[in-house]
Amino acid sequence: MASTDIVDHEPDTGDFRQGLIDGLSRDPKDIPAKFLYDERGSELFEQICETDDYYPTRTEIGIMETCLERVSELIGPRARIVEFGAGSGRKTRMFLKALESPAAYLPIEISKAALRGCAERMQTAFPDLEITPICADYTEPVELPAPPSSVGRTVGYYPGSTLGNFEPDEAASFLRRIHDLCGDNGGLFIGIDLVKDRDTLEAAYDDSAGVTEAFTMNILDRANREADADFDRDAFRFEAQWQPEHQRVQLRLVSREAQTVHVGDTPFEFEAGERIVTEHSYKFRLDQFAELARDTGFSPVENWTDDDELFSLWYLET
Ligand code: TRP
Repeated sequence: MASTDIVDHEPDTGDFRQGLIDGLSRDPKDIPAKFLYDERGSELFEQICETDDYYPTRTEIGIMETCLERVSELIGPRARIVEFGAGSGRKTRMFLKALESPAAYLPIEISKAALRGCAERMQTAFPDLEITPICADYTEPVELPAPPSSVGRTVGYYPGSTLGNFEPDEAASFLRRIHDLCGDNGGLFIGIDLVKDRDTLEAAYDDSAGVTEAFTMNILDRANREADADFDRDAFRFEAQWQPEHQRVQLRLVSREAQTVHVGDTPFEFEAGERIVTEHSYKFRLDQFAELARDTGFSPVENWTDDDELFSLWYLET
């Protein structure tokens, strides 16, 4: 696929440096999670999904095996599928394969390298499918090309419980935006992780193979390389903590000592034990997500879970 085929709204790395400075200026300090996914970060993320401790990916795939036939029936023929973020594509291939003559696939992805890889893999798997890769930050408003009249529903695809990585108010405004993007007669097929015991959750986000730690630390290397920062990764340790009062896992880097870190000329003071929050992963109860869907304009049509109710998949209509 030629790069000219990509609808290109790629944010420049200036966004990373400014995002880093803005995040480190907040109290508590944070680094916006979207910056975790550079090329190395995306690679490590794929590895997280394959660890024994990270239950969501295999559980979601297991649920898909039981529900896709029904989902395909609900969506109908010639659908246009819009995916927010482009992963390895395994789940997407399963989904598209189950659909009746899908009309088009539109992945929206912030990293051009990841987007190009995704578009190429999908075109190989589905030679006749129309693919429109869109390079953009999907947390910002995005416009879709107008669908030809032969197209059925426009259906959003948002697997992996990535919705849980937004703060609750942002999750709601994101869902409202997808609702409008998919238009009348549209749908959303979405994966949502469920509340469960602390040990399972903390192991999933601090896997014993250390991949999640390497993934999170990678953002410090990226800051040094791309934003002229001087982080020493040995001066931080990684933690994942289930915070039941917020129904979320908090992922963070904790300063081992009092220290000063610079981003360009801007100094940031750390106390010993001070955090940089890199990610929240909110978990839902089934009734809570149904309410959120309704509050943001959707009608929940059906949902599916595994036998242990670890994870859920939902088909919503606009
Ligand atoms: N959507 C995934 C989740 O919350 C993202 C994720 C998994 C993640 N493991 C992570 C993000 C580790 C940051 C760090 O489950």
